[in-house]
Amino acid sequence: MRRVVFRREQTCQGPLILVNAAHPLAEVPPPRLTDLTGSGVLLEREAARLLNACIHAVGGRRDIVPVSGWRSRAEQQSIWEETLTKEGADFTRRYVALPGCSEHETGLAIDLGKRAAQIDFIRPDFPDHSACGAFRRLAAEYGFIQRYRREKESLTGIAEEPWHFRYVGVPHARLMEDNGLCLEEYGNFLRAGPREYALSNGRRMTVSYLPCPRETAELTMPENTRFRVSGHNDGGLILTVWEAIL
Ligand code: DAL
Ligand code: ZN
Repeated sequence: MRRVVFRREQTCQGPLILVNAAHPLAEVPPPRLTDLTGSGVLLEREAARLLNACIHAVGGRRDIVPVSGWRSRAEQQSIWEETLTKEGADFTRRYVALPGCSEHETGLAIDLGKRAAQIDFIRPDFPDHSACGAFRRLAAEYGFIQRYRREKESLTGIAEEPWHFRYVGVPHARLMEDNGLCLEEYGNFLRAGPREYALSNGRRMTVSYLPCPRETAELTMPENTRFRVSGHNDGGLILTVWEAIL
């Protein structure tokens, strides 16, 4: 067995962090970013690799356009202010997250649009048919969720956004989709007890929630166990453990 120690600052980092008006982004090191296919749109490196793979899998390279990925706090602030001036407070609160509370600042969120001569930056068209629809249906296999759904508006505080996808990783996107959960609900779902998920190759994974009330939290894991930990930005961590191959 081996002892694994987690530090409190890890609760604010990783692909499963919850970022919304009640859970602002902590002052953490910037994500490792990469340019999405030379578009000038930046995304965290792992999220970018899986996004490209999913777009490729649906044959969407021509039709699907990355519109907005990573934004600095200053950029989110100027988007907020410009939208407020142009569209008013109600529209802005519905479609633009408060600076410091936007998933775009994590590098894990991407707005996608259907290729067109004019693409709206705040509300790009991303329909449910053609390559866009195929992307939406396959996204969870690549670790992406459609983050803002109509039926979850009261929990997310944001209007339905069919164009905004958030990387959370595998198998979390599948667990959320299969159980009809948004990210605001996922922590409670896991706090109720560990969840198992079987990958398509039959290999199982177990996902559990670890509170981290002190400066460090400790776990004992069998040797050679593959696991991954991500903060949830609510004082806890989400642990994903791959079943050992004997
Ligand atoms: N459009 C989303 C909510 C953002 O501004 O982060
Ligand atoms: Zn977005």
